[in-house]
Amino acid sequence: MTIDALRGAAAAGTVLAYAALCGAIWWREQRRHASDRAAARALAGNGATPALVLFGTQTGQAEALAWQTARGLHALGTPVRVLALNALDADMLRSAPRALFVASTYGEGDAPDGASLFVEKIMAGIGALPSLPSLRYAVLALGDRQYQNFCGFGRQLDEWLHARGAKREFACVEVDNADPAALMQWNTRLGLAEDDQGESQQPFTQWRLSERELLNPGSVGTSIHRLVLAPPQGNPPVWQSGDLVQIEVPGDPTRPREYSIASIPEDGAIELLVRQEMRADGRLGLASGWLTDTLAPGGQVSLRIKPHPSFQLGDNVARPLVLIGNGTGLAGLRSHLRARAAAGCGDNWLLFGERNAEHDWLCRHEIEAWHSAGLLRRLDMVFSRDQPQRHYVQHRLLEAADELNAWLDRGAAIYVCGSLQGMATDVDAALRQVAGTNRFAAMVAAARYRRDIY
Ligand SMILES: Cc1cc2nc3c(=O)[nH]c(=O)nc-3n(C[C@H](O)[C@H](O)[C@H](O)COP(=O)(O)OP(=O)(O)OC[C@H]3O[C@@H](n4cnc5c(N)ncnc54)[C@H](O)[C@@H]3O)c2cc1C
Ligand SMILES: Cc1cc2nc3c(=O)[nH]c(=O)nc-3n(C[C@H](O)[C@H](O)[C@H](O)COP(=O)(O)O)c2cc1C
Repeated sequence: MTIDALRGAAAAGTVLAYAALCGAIWWREQRRHASDRAAARALAGNGATPALVLFGTQTGQAEALAWQTARGLHALGTPVRVLALNALDADMLRSAPRALFVASTYGEGDAPDGASLFVEKIMAGIGALPSLPSLRYAVLALGDRQYQNFCGFGRQLDEWLHARGAKREFACVEVDNADPAALMQWNTRLGLAEDDQGESQQPFTQWRLSERELLNPGSVGTSIHRLVLAPPQGNPPVWQSGDLVQIEVPGDPTRPREYSIASIPEDGAIELLVRQEMRADGRLGLASGWLTDTLAPGGQVSLRIKPHPSFQLGDNVARPLVLIGNGTGLAGLRSHLRARAAAGCGDNWLLFGERNAEHDWLCRHEIEAWHSAGLLRRLDMVFSRDQPQRHYVQHRLLEAADELNAWLDRGAAIYVCGSLQGMATDVDAALRQVAGTNRFAAMVAAARYRRDIY
């Protein structure tokens, strides 16, 4: 056999192994979804038209509460059907006798991604529903009083339903920062047992700061550190790329801060990329200042893993990936790329934006190594301040419109991680422009467009 033939056989073997691996992952995901579908069938029962339990979520809390509500109703003998708001069509809503909505608020009083199609097509769409006279409904609105437009989307939804003649079962229940008293009120109004809304999250455990590295020395921006957190002794913790952590901060025990995980379980530690938040008075942010400055190496961090299903690879595991982000958004993209490297899936395009290549090329060696090893089919590092005219990832997307459409033709999924203002909003607009309204909506409906934005 010639060297070329050997090389060819080796390459074919690699391709087959890659295909088999992607297939195995796909099969595992199908099985997981099949069990979700079985749960949904069991809840719906066989008889009367089920009540709809609808959720609109960004990071998964509304979805978890919707399922808890559905299980509680089912235990009372009420047939229920759980559905994402984006999966609802107008006829389903028109013919439903009863619907319970669990909806969070994002951006500045906006709908979360999991309700964006519902807003565009049903609430604001051409031929928006004229009336819903036979629908009884209630809304559980999730939010946080730190934001100006508290529970903005939940309130808007409640008013929209009321204006269409649907009958409120009770006033919109507003939940500030997962307040247990408000959740209890929702249970009580629905006649659910207390336990039905019980704590489903993992407990906080003590991790240890084993390493901290400044990633952008000399940057004109605030500093970004890579933190390595070693797990507690015992069972190795499990998470998926795309998941988040919540960290309890000394000085503010009621408001854990969330960070995107930048590593995978095979790394044996949770890595985070944390930017120092600078307050107007010049003091550092409570959590970011503590994690990047006050906390000594070896110190304990109270942490829990928060699954983030809407940013996990999920059904997209065997698709080409377009990964877009800026700043600490590299964290969520890095976890996916590490998962892809471990799985041998090289069909990835990374578009990443920062200020200056000299100081802000975070994880440069790793990204360059991925590129030269073929894990990145295309790499666009976009440095906004390396030329007189500011240039951002959204501009690069518009320039690369033809190639992006070619990736979408091949079935690519798009993942966006990083800041909502100044990146994700403009990237969203660029993607809509490049893909066109219908294709963009289809991407959202198929969960081929996923975001971890803050
Ligand atoms: C899903 C998600 C993922 C995230 N991922 C990451 C990540 O990977 N990396 C990352 O670095 N961050 C991430 N964040 C942001 C992170 O959770 C924190 O919000 C961030 O670190 C700031 O928290 P802090 O406690 O340092 O700041 P805080 O102390 O909470 O201050 C934040 C801001 O609040 C205001 N503020 C608060 N208190 C005062 C006060 N007393 N006086 C004046 N102003 C005040 C100021 O405007 C200040 O700038 C993520 C957030 C979310 C929701
Ligand atoms: C970037 C960001 C923007 C938010 N904007 C608002 C807001 O405008 N109003 C509000 O009440 N809550 C706001 N929240 C809080 C969320 O609604 C709240 O955390 C909710 O529990 C999230 O639920 P979910 O996991 O189902 O998306 C915001 C949270 C984040 C991270």
